Amino acid sequence: MNETIYVSVGGLLALAVAVLVVIKPTRPATVTALAWLASIARRAWWWLRFRITWKGVAREAGLSKRRTKRVKKMGVGEESIERWRDPRLKSVTTSAHAVTLKVRTRRGQALADLEAFAPKLAATYSADAYRVYPPKRRAGSTVMFELVMRDLIKTPTVAGMPEPRMQTESVLLGRRQSGKPFHLQIEQRHTLVVGASGSGKGSFLWGIVGSLAPAIKVDAARVYGIDLKGGMELTMGAPLFTQIAVTGEQALERLREFVAIADARTEELRGVSRNHKPAPGDPLYVLVIDELASLTAYADQDIKKEAERLLKRLLSIARAAGVVVCAFVQDPRKEVIDMRGLFTQTIALRLRSAMETNMVLGDGMAPFAPAHRILKAAQGTAWIIDEDGSTDRIRADYWSDDLIRRVASLYPAEPELVTISDAAPDDLPGMQLSLTDGGAR
Ligand SMILES: Nc1ncnc2c1ncn2[C@@H]1O[C@H](COP(=O)(O)OP(=O)(O)OP(=O)(O)O)[C@@H](O)[C@H]1O
Ligand SMILES: [Mg+2]
Repeated sequence: MNETIYVSVGGLLALAVAVLVVIKPTRPATVTALAWLASIARRAWWWLRFRITWKGVAREAGLSKRRTKRVKKMGVGEESIERWRDPRLKSVTTSAHAVTLKVRTRRGQALADLEAFAPKLAATYSADAYRVYPPKRRAGSTVMFELVMRDLIKTPTVAGMPEPRMQTESVLLGRRQSGKPFHLQIEQRHTLVVGASGSGKGSFLWGIVGSLAPAIKVDAARVYGIDLKGGMELTMGAPLFTQIAVTGEQALERLREFVAIADARTEELRGVSRNHKPAPGDPLYVLVIDELASLTAYADQDIKKEAERLLKRLLSIARAAGVVVCAFVQDPRKEVIDMRGLFTQTIALRLRSAMETNMVLGDGMAPFAPAHRILKAAQGTAWIIDEDGSTDRIRADYWSDDLIRRVASLYPAEPELVTISDAAPDDLPGMQLSLTDGGAR
């Protein structure tokens, strides 16, 4: 009976939309009305579809349990009655782009069984993406599934000039899959960004450094770089950096310096405050390492060992002291991942296998944050794990070379603080331009 009603309502809505499409309205008001109606019809259709098909899908996916009961029938002997126990679909809510299902486990079912159902659910309903997260209440027995039916972050967006205000706590990097802005916390966090070559790590790097630019200009943030890939990436925005290390030796120097700063700050803060609060002249120290593996996996044995020791120390002591690390890496190999636990937040861009996703985001995370399924053409797209343990898909805004240069020339680090690394200037055209002759400054 219910199903007949659902189908009739759905049919009527589809008919209304079809009529409007045939009329082909041209006036803007009519077009808006049509779009609004189409959106209502789409959401109504999604709602109906999930309500109607839920039990069937749950049963086919093996989430439900069938029980056969034999009952005595008067005078005729026995009869078998079949009963299904299904996980209960408590609510279906729709938005312009997604459907969220609140589902309660059936009796005798583990929450993990329900969570593991997410990829099947997404495939059945042709969702572009999905995420699983706990509800505010009854998180021990209930799961929220968000299925993205229209991908709002499919088309890339370009970053704009950062807001001209000092911000060190968090930076705006792009959008979440819900279309809402994505802010990354910088203070008190060590960040690890992992993604295959060409996956768009640069957008995160420049999103962080570029957004800190107004704070850099007033010395509320000091950003140091380690770029052992010839300095090509970081020198683009060289004026934003206090120093850029391009050799293993320089990198070790930077790490030692950071450990010393963190130690001194920790001593200063002891008994005064639990966390350092950056201010002009008392900055947040940020160490940006592009291609962490070139320091911890591919470098000479001596450098590698020392770098690993210093970095591990830095990662374990520094963040409350206002000294943080943002590291970028292509390959989540063992040497790098050994350190993963010391980073307080991890961002997984496109990876090559489910195994890599598990290595980067944590054991068993591949079905919930499938970074290995991100398409090559979706550069800047990544999976993250939020503070409450739920996963989300995000897309960073793209930072063009031109924007990086403009931001760097508008918000350079204090000139007297900037020191040129010992690397041969000819190897670093950006550095030469911006640091030795003042560049855009
Ligand atoms: N947020 C984004 N949106 C759209 N396109 C992007 C985005 N970020 C990067 N791209 C595109 O992807 C290309 C590769 O990006 P990027 O250089 O940042 O990759 P990467 O992960 O740093 O690679 P590598 O590890 O080789 O340095 C860029 O040249 C650009 O065309
Ligand atoms: Mg890169």
